[in-house]
Amino acid sequence: MKIPFSPPFIDKDVINEVVDTLESGWITTGPKVAALEREVAEFVHCSAAVAVNSWTSGATLALRWFGIGEGDEVIVPAYTYCATAIAVMDCGATPIMVDITKNLTIDTAQVEKAITERTKAILPVDIGGVPCDYQSLRTIISKPEIRNLFLAKTQPQLDLGRILLVSDSAHSIGAKSEGRNIAELVDIAVLSLHAVKNITAAEGGMICLNMPKPFNNAELSALLKILSLNGQTKDALTKSQAGGWRYDVMPGGMKINMPDVNAAIALAQLRKYDYLLAERQRVHNRYCAALSKYDWAMLPAGSDASFQSSYHLFPLRIKGIGEEQRNEIISYMAERGIATNVHYIPMPLLTLFRNKGYDIADYPQSLAAYQHEITLPLYPQLTDEQIDFILDNLLAAYKAIVLSE
Ligand SMILES: Cc1ncc(COP(=O)(O)O)c(C=O)c1O
Repeated sequence: MKIPFSPPFIDKDVINEVVDTLESGWITTGPKVAALEREVAEFVHCSAAVAVNSWTSGATLALRWFGIGEGDEVIVPAYTYCATAIAVMDCGATPIMVDITKNLTIDTAQVEKAITERTKAILPVDIGGVPCDYQSLRTIISKPEIRNLFLAKTQPQLDLGRILLVSDSAHSIGAKSEGRNIAELVDIAVLSLHAVKNITAAEGGMICLNMPKPFNNAELSALLKILSLNGQTKDALTKSQAGGWRYDVMPGGMKINMPDVNAAIALAQLRKYDYLLAERQRVHNRYCAALSKYDWAMLPAGSDASFQSSYHLFPLRIKGIGEEQRNEIISYMAERGIATNVHYIPMPLLTLFRNKGYDIADYPQSLAAYQHEITLPLYPQLTDEQIDFILDNLLAAYKAIVLSE
Protein backbone atom coordinates (compact mmCIF):
# COMPACT_ATOMS: atom_id res chain seq x y z
CA MET A 1 0.00 0.00 0.00
CA LYS A 2 1.41 3.44 -0.95
CA ILE A 3 0.34 6.27 1.36
CA PRO A 4 1.36 9.81 0.41
CA PHE A 5 1.81 12.38 3.16
CA SER A 6 -0.66 15.05 2.12
CA PRO A 7 -2.24 14.91 -1.35
CA PRO A 8 -4.65 17.73 -2.26
CA PHE A 9 -8.40 17.15 -2.10
CA ILE A 10 -9.56 17.38 -5.72
CA ASP A 11 -13.12 16.27 -6.51
CA LYS A 12 -15.56 16.99 -9.36
CA ASP A 13 -16.66 20.27 -7.77
CA VAL A 14 -13.08 21.53 -7.61
CA ILE A 15 -12.47 20.50 -11.22
CA ASN A 16 -15.73 22.10 -12.39
CA GLU A 17 -14.89 25.38 -10.64
CA VAL A 18 -11.45 25.45 -12.28
CA VAL A 19 -12.85 24.56 -15.70
CA ASP A 20 -15.48 27.28 -15.28
CA THR A 21 -12.64 29.76 -14.76
CA LEU A 22 -10.63 28.46 -17.71
CA GLU A 23 -13.67 28.77 -19.97
CA SER A 24 -14.64 32.21 -18.67
CA GLY A 25 -12.04 34.14 -20.65
CA TRP A 26 -10.41 35.55 -17.49
CA ILE A 27 -7.88 33.48 -15.52
CA THR A 28 -5.94 35.91 -13.33
CA THR A 29 -7.19 38.08 -10.44
CA GLY A 30 -10.89 38.79 -10.99
CA PRO A 31 -14.33 37.54 -9.94
CA LYS A 32 -13.22 34.21 -8.41
CA VAL A 33 -10.68 35.96 -6.20
CA ALA A 34 -13.33 38.49 -5.17
CA ALA A 35 -15.72 35.64 -4.32
CA LEU A 36 -13.03 33.80 -2.34
CA GLU A 37 -12.16 36.94 -0.38
CA ARG A 38 -15.83 37.48 0.45
CA GLU A 39 -16.47 33.86 1.43
CA VAL A 40 -13.30 33.55 3.53
CA ALA A 41 -14.11 36.81 5.36
CA GLU A 42 -17.61 35.49 6.14
CA PHE A 43 -16.23 32.11 7.16
CA VAL A 44 -13.54 33.35 9.56
CA HIS A 45 -15.66 36.32 10.73
CA CYS A 46 -13.20 39.05 9.84
CA SER A 47 -14.08 42.48 8.45
CA ALA A 48 -12.27 42.07 5.12
CA ALA A 49 -9.87 39.62 3.45
CA VAL A 50 -7.23 40.10 0.75
CA ALA A 51 -6.05 37.16 -1.36
CA VAL A 52 -2.35 36.91 -2.24
CA ASN A 53 -0.08 34.26 -3.73
CA SER A 54 1.27 32.82 -0.44
CA TRP A 55 1.25 33.11 3.32
CA THR A 56 4.81 34.40 3.13
CA SER A 57 4.00 37.28 0.79
CA GLY A 58 0.80 38.12 2.68
CA ALA A 59 2.55 38.30 6.05
CA THR A 60 5.35 40.38 4.54
CA LEU A 61 2.85 42.82 3.02
CA ALA A 62 0.91 43.15 6.28
CA LEU A 63 4.06 43.82 8.31
CA ARG A 64 5.37 46.30 5.72
CA TRP A 65 2.05 48.14 5.68
CA PHE A 66 2.37 48.58 9.46
CA GLY A 67 5.76 50.17 8.78
CA ILE A 68 7.94 47.38 10.15
CA GLY A 69 11.50 47.59 8.86
CA GLU A 70 15.13 47.87 9.78
CA GLY A 71 15.79 48.20 13.51
CA ASP A 72 12.40 46.69 14.43
CA GLU A 73 11.79 43.36 16.11
CA VAL A 74 8.99 40.83 15.67
CA ILE A 75 8.56 37.98 18.17
CA VAL A 76 8.08 34.51 16.64
CA PRO A 77 8.28 30.94 17.99
CA ALA A 78 11.49 28.99 17.25
CA TYR A 79 9.34 25.96 16.43
CA THR A 80 7.67 26.72 13.11
CA TYR A 81 8.21 26.63 9.37
CA CYS A 82 11.00 29.01 8.27
CA ALA A 83 8.52 31.31 6.48
CA THR A 84 7.33 32.76 9.80
CA ALA A 85 10.75 34.35 10.35
CA ILE A 86 11.52 34.91 6.66
CA ALA A 87 8.47 37.18 6.31
CA VAL A 88 9.92 39.33 9.12
CA MET A 89 13.37 39.37 7.49
CA ASP A 90 11.82 40.27 4.12
CA CYS A 91 10.72 43.52 5.78
CA GLY A 92 14.27 44.19 6.96
CA ALA A 93 13.31 43.55 10.60
CA THR A 94 14.74 41.02 13.08
CA PRO A 95 12.80 37.93 14.19
CA ILE A 96 13.16 37.41 17.94
CA MET A 97 12.64 33.71 18.55
CA VAL A 98 11.16 32.35 21.76
CA ASP A 99 10.50 28.78 22.89
CA ILE A 100 7.24 26.84 22.91
CA THR A 101 5.09 25.13 25.54
CA LYS A 102 4.19 21.45 25.74
CA ASN A 103 1.31 21.91 23.27
CA LEU A 104 3.84 23.18 20.69
CA THR A 105 2.52 26.76 20.56
CA ILE A 106 4.45 29.88 21.60
CA ASP A 107 5.29 30.30 25.30
CA THR A 108 3.50 33.53 26.19
CA ALA A 109 5.56 34.09 29.38
CA GLN A 110 8.66 34.13 27.19
CA VAL A 111 6.96 36.45 24.71
CA GLU A 112 6.43 38.99 27.49
CA LYS A 113 10.08 38.75 28.55
CA ALA A 114 11.27 39.25 24.96
CA ILE A 115 9.40 42.54 24.44
CA THR A 116 11.62 45.62 24.05
CA GLU A 117 11.08 49.16 22.76
CA ARG A 118 11.96 47.77 19.31
CA THR A 119 9.10 45.21 19.31
CA LYS A 120 6.54 46.10 16.68
CA ALA A 121 4.61 42.84 16.31
CA ILE A 122 4.07 39.35 17.69
CA LEU A 123 3.61 36.55 15.16
CA PRO A 124 2.47 33.37 16.97
CA VAL A 125 1.75 30.13 15.07
CA ASP A 126 -1.28 27.84 15.40
CA ILE A 127 0.79 24.69 14.96
CA GLY A 128 -1.15 21.84 13.40
CA GLY A 129 -4.37 23.82 13.73
CA VAL A 130 -4.25 24.22 17.53
CA PRO A 131 -4.82 27.88 18.46
CA CYS A 132 -2.20 29.76 20.51
CA ASP A 133 -3.06 31.30 23.86
CA TYR A 134 -4.48 34.50 22.33
CA GLN A 135 -6.10 35.60 25.56
CA SER A 136 -2.67 35.88 27.23
CA LEU A 137 -1.13 37.53 24.19
CA ARG A 138 -3.90 40.13 24.07
CA THR A 139 -3.51 40.79 27.78
CA ILE A 140 0.25 41.27 27.36
CA ILE A 141 0.04 43.76 24.48
CA SER A 142 -2.61 45.77 26.32
CA LYS A 143 -0.66 46.16 29.58
CA PRO A 144 0.04 49.86 30.25
CA GLU A 145 3.77 49.26 30.83
CA ILE A 146 4.05 47.37 27.51
CA ARG A 147 2.04 50.05 25.67
CA ASN A 148 4.36 52.69 27.15
CA LEU A 149 7.38 50.87 25.73
CA PHE A 150 5.91 50.96 22.20
CA LEU A 151 7.65 53.51 19.99
CA ALA A 152 5.36 54.43 17.09
CA LYS A 153 7.15 55.54 13.92
CA THR A 154 4.47 55.34 11.22
CA GLN A 155 0.84 56.45 10.97
CA PRO A 156 -0.58 52.92 11.42
CA GLN A 157 1.67 52.45 14.46
CA LEU A 158 0.51 55.79 15.91
CA ASP A 159 -3.13 54.87 15.27
CA LEU A 160 -2.79 51.46 16.96
CA GLY A 161 -0.56 52.67 19.79
CA ARG A 162 0.59 49.19 20.73
CA ILE A 163 2.25 46.02 19.43
CA LEU A 164 0.46 44.49 16.43
CA LEU A 165 -0.84 40.92 16.92
CA VAL A 166 -0.67 38.95 13.66
CA SER A 167 -1.40 35.23 13.73
CA ASP A 168 0.45 32.77 11.54
CA SER A 169 -2.74 30.89 10.81
CA ALA A 170 -1.17 28.94 7.95
CA HIS A 171 -2.59 25.76 9.53
CA SER A 172 -5.71 26.99 11.23
CA ILE A 173 -8.46 28.07 8.85
CA GLY A 174 -11.70 27.27 10.71
CA ALA A 175 -10.03 26.73 14.09
CA LYS A 176 -11.61 28.43 17.10
CA SER A 177 -10.54 29.52 20.54
CA GLU A 178 -12.79 30.81 23.33
CA GLY A 179 -15.66 30.00 20.92
CA ARG A 180 -14.42 32.52 18.40
CA ASN A 181 -12.56 32.31 15.13
CA ILE A 182 -8.86 33.12 15.39
CA ALA A 183 -9.27 36.05 13.01
CA GLU A 184 -11.57 37.62 15.63
CA LEU A 185 -8.92 37.35 18.33
CA VAL A 186 -6.04 39.09 16.55
CA ASP A 187 -5.47 42.27 14.54
CA ILE A 188 -4.56 40.38 11.38
CA ALA A 189 -4.68 36.63 10.69
CA VAL A 190 -2.76 35.33 7.69
CA LEU A 191 -3.89 32.02 6.19
CA SER A 192 -1.91 29.78 3.84
CA LEU A 193 -3.65 28.16 0.88
CA HIS A 194 -0.55 26.16 -0.07
CA ALA A 195 -1.05 22.71 -1.65
CA VAL A 196 -0.83 20.75 1.63
CA LYS A 197 -3.15 23.01 3.61
CA ASN A 198 -6.73 22.20 4.69
CA ILE A 199 -8.07 24.54 2.00
CA THR A 200 -5.74 25.07 -0.94
CA ALA A 201 -5.38 27.22 -4.04
CA ALA A 202 -2.24 25.22 -5.03
CA GLU A 203 -0.32 28.27 -3.81
CA GLY A 204 -1.97 31.15 -2.01
CA GLY A 205 -2.53 33.14 1.13
CA MET A 206 -5.25 35.29 2.67
CA ILE A 207 -4.78 38.40 4.81
CA CYS A 208 -7.76 38.54 7.19
CA LEU A 209 -8.25 42.01 8.65
CA ASN A 210 -9.68 42.73 12.05
CA MET A 211 -7.92 46.01 12.88
CA PRO A 212 -9.62 47.91 15.72
CA LYS A 213 -10.88 51.48 15.49
CA PRO A 214 -9.79 53.98 14.14
CA PHE A 215 -8.83 51.64 11.26
CA ASN A 216 -11.31 51.10 8.47
CA ASN A 217 -10.81 47.50 7.34
CA ALA A 218 -12.68 47.98 4.05
CA GLU A 219 -10.38 50.88 3.13
CA LEU A 220 -7.35 48.97 4.35
CA SER A 221 -8.26 45.92 2.24
CA ALA A 222 -8.60 48.17 -0.83
CA LEU A 223 -5.13 49.58 -0.13
CA LEU A 224 -3.59 46.13 0.39
CA LYS A 225 -5.17 44.96 -2.88
CA ILE A 226 -3.48 47.83 -4.70
CA LEU A 227 -0.18 47.07 -2.95
CA SER A 228 -0.48 43.38 -3.88
CA LEU A 229 -0.48 44.37 -7.56
CA ASN A 230 2.73 46.43 -7.74
CA GLY A 231 0.88 49.38 -6.23
CA GLN A 232 -1.22 49.72 -9.41
CA THR A 233 -4.36 51.69 -8.64
CA LYS A 234 -6.50 49.79 -11.12
CA ASP A 235 -6.83 45.99 -11.15
CA ALA A 236 -5.95 44.09 -14.32
CA LEU A 237 -9.56 43.21 -15.18
CA THR A 238 -10.76 46.83 -14.98
CA LYS A 239 -7.67 48.04 -16.83
CA SER A 240 -8.31 45.54 -19.64
CA GLN A 241 -11.82 46.89 -20.36
CA ALA A 242 -12.14 49.01 -23.50
CA GLY A 243 -11.02 52.54 -22.70
CA GLY A 244 -9.90 51.64 -19.18
CA TRP A 245 -6.17 51.97 -19.75
CA ARG A 246 -5.18 54.78 -17.38
CA TYR A 247 -3.82 53.98 -13.92
CA ASP A 248 -1.39 55.29 -11.33
CA VAL A 249 1.17 53.43 -9.23
CA MET A 250 1.56 53.89 -5.47
CA PRO A 251 4.75 53.26 -3.48
CA GLY A 252 5.23 50.08 -1.40
CA GLY A 253 3.76 47.57 -3.84
CA MET A 254 4.68 43.92 -4.37
CA LYS A 255 3.56 41.60 -7.22
CA ILE A 256 1.78 38.99 -5.14
CA ASN A 257 -1.81 38.82 -6.43
CA MET A 258 -3.69 35.52 -6.60
CA PRO A 259 -4.95 34.33 -10.01
CA ASP A 260 -8.63 33.35 -10.43
CA VAL A 261 -7.67 29.88 -11.63
CA ASN A 262 -6.08 29.27 -8.21
CA ALA A 263 -8.92 30.89 -6.27
CA ALA A 264 -11.35 28.50 -7.99
CA ILE A 265 -9.76 25.47 -6.28
CA ALA A 266 -10.03 27.05 -2.83
CA LEU A 267 -13.59 28.29 -3.44
CA ALA A 268 -14.89 24.79 -4.21
CA GLN A 269 -13.06 23.35 -1.18
CA LEU A 270 -14.18 26.07 1.22
CA ARG A 271 -17.82 25.39 0.31
CA LYS A 272 -17.43 21.88 1.76
CA TYR A 273 -15.30 22.85 4.76
CA ASP A 274 -17.59 21.11 7.28
CA TYR A 275 -17.31 17.80 5.46
CA LEU A 276 -13.52 18.17 5.10
CA LEU A 277 -13.11 19.03 8.79
CA ALA A 278 -15.26 16.08 9.91
CA GLU A 279 -13.13 13.73 7.81
CA ARG A 280 -9.92 15.17 9.28
CA GLN A 281 -11.34 14.74 12.75
CA ARG A 282 -12.23 11.11 11.93
CA VAL A 283 -8.57 10.42 11.06
CA HIS A 284 -7.33 12.21 14.20
CA ASN A 285 -9.75 10.28 16.41
CA ARG A 286 -8.88 6.90 14.90
CA TYR A 287 -5.18 7.51 15.55
CA CYS A 288 -5.94 8.61 19.11
CA ALA A 289 -8.23 5.64 19.83
CA ALA A 290 -5.52 3.21 18.75
CA LEU A 291 -2.52 4.93 20.31
CA SER A 292 -3.96 6.10 23.63
CA LYS A 293 -3.28 2.70 25.22
CA TYR A 294 0.48 3.13 24.78
CA ASP A 295 2.13 5.30 27.39
CA TRP A 296 4.98 6.10 24.95
CA ALA A 297 2.55 7.85 22.59
CA MET A 298 2.21 11.57 23.32
CA LEU A 299 -0.88 12.48 21.33
CA PRO A 300 -1.45 15.90 19.76
CA ALA A 301 -4.21 18.06 21.17
CA GLY A 302 -7.62 17.58 19.58
CA SER A 303 -10.52 19.90 20.36
CA ASP A 304 -12.00 20.44 23.82
CA ALA A 305 -14.43 22.85 25.45
CA SER A 306 -11.97 25.74 25.13
CA PHE A 307 -10.89 25.33 21.51
CA GLN A 308 -11.64 23.74 18.15
CA SER A 309 -8.67 22.46 16.16
CA SER A 310 -8.62 22.50 12.37
CA TYR A 311 -6.86 19.10 12.52
CA HIS A 312 -4.24 20.14 10.03
CA LEU A 313 -1.47 17.84 11.30
CA PHE A 314 -1.04 14.82 13.55
CA PRO A 315 2.29 15.58 15.26
CA LEU A 316 2.85 12.44 17.32
CA ARG A 317 5.66 12.50 19.86
CA ILE A 318 7.22 9.30 21.12
CA LYS A 319 8.37 9.32 24.73
CA GLY A 320 11.84 8.05 25.46
CA ILE A 321 13.28 8.01 21.95
CA GLY A 322 16.04 10.17 20.47
CA GLU A 323 16.55 11.62 17.07
CA GLU A 324 18.27 8.56 15.66
CA GLN A 325 15.46 6.19 16.61
CA ARG A 326 12.89 8.70 15.33
CA ASN A 327 14.69 8.74 11.97
CA GLU A 328 14.80 4.94 11.88
CA ILE A 329 11.04 4.75 12.47
CA ILE A 330 10.49 7.18 9.58
CA SER A 331 12.71 5.05 7.31
CA TYR A 332 11.00 1.82 8.42
CA MET A 333 7.63 3.26 7.47
CA ALA A 334 8.95 4.76 4.22
CA GLU A 335 10.25 1.32 3.18
CA ARG A 336 6.68 0.09 3.56
CA GLY A 337 5.24 2.87 1.39
CA ILE A 338 4.15 5.28 4.14
CA ALA A 339 5.26 8.90 3.88
CA THR A 340 5.52 10.61 7.26
CA ASN A 341 7.10 13.96 8.11
CA VAL A 342 8.63 16.03 10.89
CA HIS A 343 7.02 19.26 12.11
CA TYR A 344 9.27 21.07 12.66
CA ILE A 345 13.01 21.30 12.43
CA PRO A 346 13.37 24.25 14.84
CA MET A 347 14.57 27.30 12.93
CA PRO A 348 17.86 27.69 14.90
CA LEU A 349 18.96 24.32 13.45
CA LEU A 350 18.67 25.65 9.88
CA THR A 351 21.75 27.20 8.24
CA LEU A 352 20.07 30.53 7.45
CA PHE A 353 19.31 31.18 11.11
CA ARG A 354 22.33 29.41 12.63
CA ASN A 355 24.57 31.69 10.57
CA LYS A 356 22.77 34.69 12.07
CA GLY A 357 23.65 33.53 15.59
CA TYR A 358 20.42 31.85 16.72
CA ASP A 359 21.44 28.99 19.04
CA ILE A 360 19.28 25.91 19.57
CA ALA A 361 20.53 25.71 23.17
CA ASP A 362 18.26 28.68 23.88
CA TYR A 363 15.17 26.69 22.81
CA PRO A 364 15.16 23.41 24.80
CA GLN A 365 11.41 22.72 24.39
CA SER A 366 11.63 23.18 20.62
CA LEU A 367 14.61 20.86 20.39
CA ALA A 368 12.99 18.21 22.60
CA ALA A 369 9.74 18.34 20.60
CA TYR A 370 11.63 17.99 17.33
CA GLN A 371 13.82 15.08 18.40
CA HIS A 372 10.97 12.66 19.07
CA GLU A 373 8.30 13.94 16.71
CA ILE A 374 6.80 12.09 13.72
CA THR A 375 3.90 13.58 11.81
CA LEU A 376 1.50 10.92 10.55
CA PRO A 377 -0.51 11.44 7.34
CA LEU A 378 -3.81 13.27 7.96
CA TYR A 379 -6.24 14.19 5.18
CA PRO A 380 -9.91 13.63 4.36
CA GLN A 381 -9.27 10.99 1.69
CA LEU A 382 -7.41 8.67 4.09
CA THR A 383 -9.53 5.51 4.52
CA ASP A 384 -9.90 3.61 7.79
CA GLU A 385 -8.03 0.73 6.14
CA GLN A 386 -5.11 3.02 5.30
CA ILE A 387 -5.10 4.47 8.82
CA ASP A 388 -4.93 0.95 10.27
CA PHE A 389 -2.07 0.10 7.91
CA ILE A 390 -0.18 3.18 9.12
CA LEU A 391 -0.85 2.24 12.76
CA ASP A 392 0.18 -1.40 12.27
CA ASN A 393 3.46 -0.28 10.73
CA LEU A 394 4.08 2.35 13.39
CA LEU A 395 3.60 -0.25 16.14
CA ALA A 396 5.82 -2.72 14.28
CA ALA A 397 8.48 -0.03 13.83
CA TYR A 398 8.36 0.83 17.54
CA LYS A 399 8.74 -2.87 18.43
CA ALA A 400 11.60 -3.44 16.00
CA ILE A 401 13.52 -0.24 16.71
CA VAL A 402 12.77 0.79 20.28
CA LEU A 403 11.76 -2.37 22.17
CA SER A 404 14.49 -4.51 20.62
CA GLU A 405 17.25 -2.30 22.09
C1 LIG B 1 3.43 27.52 10.00
C2 LIG B 1 3.62 27.99 8.58
N1 LIG B 1 3.78 29.30 8.34
C3 LIG B 1 3.94 29.76 7.10
C4 LIG B 1 3.93 28.91 6.01
C5 LIG B 1 4.17 29.46 4.65
O1 LIG B 1 3.07 29.32 3.82
P1 LIG B 1 3.19 29.62 2.26
O2 LIG B 1 3.85 28.43 1.64
O3 LIG B 1 1.76 29.80 1.81
O4 LIG B 1 3.99 30.86 2.11
C6 LIG B 1 3.75 27.54 6.19
C7 LIG B 1 3.72 26.64 5.03
O5 LIG B 1 4.02 25.49 5.06
C8 LIG B 1 3.59 27.06 7.52
O6 LIG B 1 3.44 25.75 7.75
